[in-house]
Amino acid sequence: MKTEKILVSGAAGQIGSELVPALRQKYGKDNVFALYHRTVPKDAANAGVHVIGDATNKDFIEKLIREHGITTIYHLVGVLSAKGEQDPDLAYAVNMGTLKNVLDIARQLKNEGKEIKIFWPSSIAAFGPTTPRDKTPQRTILEPSTMYGVTKVAGELLVNYYFRKYALDIRSLRYPGIISWKTPPGGGTTDYAVEIFYGALKEKKYTSFLNAGTYLPMMYMDDAIRATIELMEADSSKIRIRTSYNITAVSFEPEEIAREIKKHIAEFEISYKPDFRQQIADSWPKSIDDSSARADWNWRHHFGLAEMVSDMLKNLGSIVK
Ligand SMILES: NC(=O)c1ccc[n+]([C@@H]2O[C@H](COP(=O)([O-])OP(=O)(O)OC[C@H]3O[C@@H](n4cnc5c(N)ncnc54)[C@H](O)[C@@H]3O)[C@@H](O)[C@H]2O)c1
Repeated sequence: MKTEKILVSGAAGQIGSELVPALRQKYGKDNVFALYHRTVPKDAANAGVHVIGDATNKDFIEKLIREHGITTIYHLVGVLSAKGEQDPDLAYAVNMGTLKNVLDIARQLKNEGKEIKIFWPSSIAAFGPTTPRDKTPQRTILEPSTMYGVTKVAGELLVNYYFRKYALDIRSLRYPGIISWKTPPGGGTTDYAVEIFYGALKEKKYTSFLNAGTYLPMMYMDDAIRATIELMEADSSKIRIRTSYNITAVSFEPEEIAREIKKHIAEFEISYKPDFRQQIADSWPKSIDDSSARADWNWRHHFGLAEMVSDMLKNLGSIVK
């Protein structure tokens, strides 16, 4: 069997910092290259092969892919929703520019007989205020109101186009909000559902930047990593959606997660001070219909709200004092 040589861009991010070790465990630490932007995280220096550089630099990325004979790319570089609203030009340049570069390099290599498989994440941010918000279908209205969402819709259409026109094997998931404890989230609208655990453990209280009643689809990191690898390992005949798959685990609102935390930390109190992120959350789905992912490549989530809260508190509890 041919050895996979994998490149993960955005490797220091919330998702990359957990995907890289998972891939290294599976494919060997010398076969998974982590691309960091400016610095290498402390605990990553000796963990496997890595490079530092700017993903907007096409020549640099192309050289990297060619020199190391990369066969699979997980392209996670991105500027997320809340950050993107503060700097829409940066969000556009990074999210669209780096994706187009990666696709064009893969297209060029394919012309030379070298196949590259690509994973690129979309998001529930691809939906917008005109999208049906309950059990949002796989195929529906995509009219996002954030620049981040605009780049996700355009990205979905672009990867679908490159699949159809150039037969590139690109696969994608519309991640919901991802909850994890190893690395802090990178400036998204669902970050409250991670911050709340820090508040609970440090001060037994948390002020949410989203209001009570704001339902959003969410997923525990373990499920997100497994979904990503399972999608990439699925037989290509099973991948029937080449824009991006709806995928979800649970939907909850701030009061529900607070109630679940209170089962472990009885004194915990939540209060509310919504900011600009409330408007973004109000334009996103409350819940997602991911039946296509479940039918096509057998997606199943493992973590519900109770399991997730208990695992978060156990793991974060040992590092947050
Ligand atoms: N975390 C979530 O809840 C979530 C939900 C939906 C979709 N996604 C998508 O998943 C991907 C990864 O998300 P994340 O949460 O890990 O993001 P993150 O912000 O934590 O990490 C993104 C990484 O990209 C790097 N980066 C930014 N610009 C770069 C550049 N020019 N060159 C090289 N590196 C650069 C940053 O340094 C950062 O480490 C993104 O495409 C995001 O849109 C994430």
